[in-house]
Amino acid sequence: MRGVALLIFTACIAVVASFSLSCKYPPSVWCSSLEIATECGVLRQCPEFNNTKADSKVEVALYYESLCPGCRQFFALQLFPTWVMLRDIMDVQLIPFGNAQESTAGHFTCQHGEEECLGNMIETCILNSTDFGTAFFTLFCMESSANVVKSAETCLGLYSPTSNWESIMTCVKGDQGTKLMHENAVKTGALKPPHEYVPWITINGEHTEDLQDKAMGSLFNLVCGLFKGKKPPACAPAVQNKSRSYCFN
Ligand SMILES: *[C@@H]1O[C@H](CO)[C@@H](O)[C@H](O)[C@H]1NC(C)=O
Ligand SMILES: *[C@@H]1O[C@H](CO)[C@@H](O)[C@H](O)[C@H]1NC(C)=O
Ligand SMILES: *[C@@H]1O[C@H](CO)[C@@H](O)[C@H](O)[C@H]1NC(C)=O
Repeated sequence: MRGVALLIFTACIAVVASFSLSCKYPPSVWCSSLEIATECGVLRQCPEFNNTKADSKVEVALYYESLCPGCRQFFALQLFPTWVMLRDIMDVQLIPFGNAQESTAGHFTCQHGEEECLGNMIETCILNSTDFGTAFFTLFCMESSANVVKSAETCLGLYSPTSNWESIMTCVKGDQGTKLMHENAVKTGALKPPHEYVPWITINGEHTEDLQDKAMGSLFNLVCGLFKGKKPPACAPAVQNKSRSYCFN
């Protein structure tokens, strides 16, 4: 269906663009840049065309809380390693809030106590302080360590040396952290269906029991399977062993 829609779409763009005599580009590149799209008269059509691209990344969102054991396990053993292998074909969104509650005036109560609220807040502020990849490495370090909160400063130093612990703590203790945590609360509260537990996973914005089961079983296989574009080598079953290198005893 997608392929057909894409074809029809390309055809529509072709009709539109045939009126634009100055266009010297083949249809395959019409949406590749704003300049070409303008020159070929297809600027209005491109956003939709871009959205229907077959190779759009698989979006994985994790709704979690920093101290929940199941969340830590999924984060450290599935989500992070899968993203390291498949980051070209997947996007990850992390929403630390989970089963927490927001009472009035930006006050939060967490399932695993104050410590968890602090962990959620530190992670939220780290996510807001740097590029996503750097933050993800740092949060992976925290979630996979013996003590999530105590390891935070060390993990930040290891994986995000340009970030500064004091400025993270300023965010954690100040209005910025409260504002960001409120956004997490709103996002979590807007889930459809509403979350019943954490880790709660959405794939391309959707949560079903089937997707959750598959993600918990093997997120890697799920993402490879859902990606519609040309699969990266990591997704192929390992058939070629000639390039492997071993150190025999
Ligand atoms: C379509 O998407 C590509 C890659 O994401 C982007 O570089 C390009 O500017 C987009 N085209 C238009 C006309 O928005
Ligand atoms: C941090 O949060 C602010 C406001 O919520 C937002 O405008 C900004 O883009 C965020 N920065 C990063 C790096 O996520
Ligand atoms: C790959 O490994 C199998 C045994 O597991 C072996 O029979 C085969 O010859 C190997 N192929 C190459 C190209 O080394």
